[in-house]
Amino acid sequence: MLQTDFLVIGSGVAGLSYALKVARHCPDRKVLVITKTQADETNTKYAQGGIAGVTDLERDSFEKHIEDTLIAGDGLCNPAVVEIVVREGPERIREIIDWGTRFDKDDEGDFKLGKEGGHSEFRILHHKDVTGRELERALLEAVARQKNIEIIKHCFVIDILTQHHLGFLITKSTPDIECFGVYALNLQTHRIEKILARVTLLATGGNGQAYRTTTNPKIATGDGVAMVYRAKGRIENMEFIQFHPTALFEPSVSPCFLITEAVRGDGGILRNKFDEAFMVRYDPRKDLAPRDIVARAIDSEMKRTGTENVYLDCRHMHRDRFIEHFPNIYKKCLSIGIDISESQIPVAPAAHYSCGGIKADEWARTSIRNLYACGECASTGLHGANRLASNSLLEALVFSHRCYLDSVSAVQLNDFRTDIPDWNAQGTTEPKEMILITQSLKELQLLMSDYVGIVRTNVRLQRALKRLDLLHEEIEALYETTVISPQLCETRNLITIGYLIVKEAQFRHESRGLHYNTDFPLKSDLLQNIVL
Ligand code: FAD
Ligand code: SIN
Repeated sequence: MLQTDFLVIGSGVAGLSYALKVARHCPDRKVLVITKTQADETNTKYAQGGIAGVTDLERDSFEKHIEDTLIAGDGLCNPAVVEIVVREGPERIREIIDWGTRFDKDDEGDFKLGKEGGHSEFRILHHKDVTGRELERALLEAVARQKNIEIIKHCFVIDILTQHHLGFLITKSTPDIECFGVYALNLQTHRIEKILARVTLLATGGNGQAYRTTTNPKIATGDGVAMVYRAKGRIENMEFIQFHPTALFEPSVSPCFLITEAVRGDGGILRNKFDEAFMVRYDPRKDLAPRDIVARAIDSEMKRTGTENVYLDCRHMHRDRFIEHFPNIYKKCLSIGIDISESQIPVAPAAHYSCGGIKADEWARTSIRNLYACGECASTGLHGANRLASNSLLEALVFSHRCYLDSVSAVQLNDFRTDIPDWNAQGTTEPKEMILITQSLKELQLLMSDYVGIVRTNVRLQRALKRLDLLHEEIEALYETTVISPQLCETRNLITIGYLIVKEAQFRHESRGLHYNTDFPLKSDLLQNIVL
């Protein structure tokens, strides 16, 4: 059994920035960060475009960033939360710079600001096209200098501990469900440990792995959301899965390599197989319309022309400037034989970001006491029905700060709950066939991509639900009888994620933002004869 004052699940931007803050504020308290693989293997590390924030008040304003976020969110953002994130964002950006994050600057020492879909101004700070790698590096180095933070790597959190583990019957309407820590499988000792905490933060990231084609690394399996759902906490907005319009089209490669939206911000143009710059037919903002609109337009073009991808044309862009801003993309394209100044880049949409998740208030508090959620696993109300590009890193920083402010008080009130039983593995045996797990995962990813993708219908959602029921039954049987492994738990969690996405999609009797159901078409699409 381990005990810690602050328990942080996840070593991405949300988890690490929170850990740093509480550790500095409470130098005598212990902060334990748990991460399921390498410390830097996170969605954060792969962020490309950058972090949105109003840093140039001569050209930009908080009001414009707020308006862009609200427009992208298609009527479902919580305006108070949007206001908080946009106004507090610049201060949080200054902090990560103080912690060692380097953003690109021009010769005068001003930030080079990028632009992405849905932004009315250039306001995205970036480190070339590897912003996430730079941010993760700086955060991990700062954490390493902080004596009262310990990181346990290769440690898989299975479930959060609540009164359920003391034998009480917990339902969704039980008041005051409380979190006492977690059960976690330490992959170095091969033991399932009970970790008790005064305060627990879930910063477990996204769930892109529920889909066959995704920009998210293998760790993005929605574990935190699935744990909270099992613990009867509140989850919301799961139907709003964001598909990034421009993942590099390489059919057998997973996860997909992203071609950042900033390339379109610098002038890249989407074309179909007839070389037509088609976005002009879909939205007056053309290639820089919000992501839901661009992804749906690409989906429609692919269906109309019977192709599996469209193209991003950068041939007209200044080659040296392209290489300076996007060295990683340039190198990757060259490695597969594409010189961006001579050939177009084949791209297609891929699952990218979960706008919904664990319901969290403006202090990152969940519906479960002593349990907080930050970053992509949380649903704070910022994104509504569709996230504005580069608002995710910003949200994680603003909410990890707010979470720190709230939890340094909470930690003083909570004691350890020592009467929780140890993990009981009785009656389980080593899995006879791992293929049962890998096959279930493949089936899940296929059905989610085929039936619950960019464009949905009532019939497809119903089909998906039937198949999910069977997968759920099979994985639960395996879970009851086999020795726990990350693969088993992740597949089980992803099946829960699939179920939550489908159920919430079925409840929404309209098309809005990222949720598009042809049984509830948008009038504008009917008028334009869009192929859905
Ligand atoms: P993550 O960074 O994903 O970290 C999750 C952590 O939780 C990991 O350490 C993982 O090991 C741990 N974890 C999960 N489950 C468990 C478990 N069961 N047990 C133990 N540990 C667990 N957003 C922007 O704002 N700007 C961008 O430019 C941008 N570009 C992107 C490009 C790509 C390719 C991708 C995939 C995303 C991009 N995003 C971008 C989105 C953004 O990167 C993520 O939303 C954000 O980094 C999520 O941070 P996080 O801290 O919430 O989670
Ligand atoms: C990108 O660089 O296009 C991704 C940005 C984001 O997901 O916010």
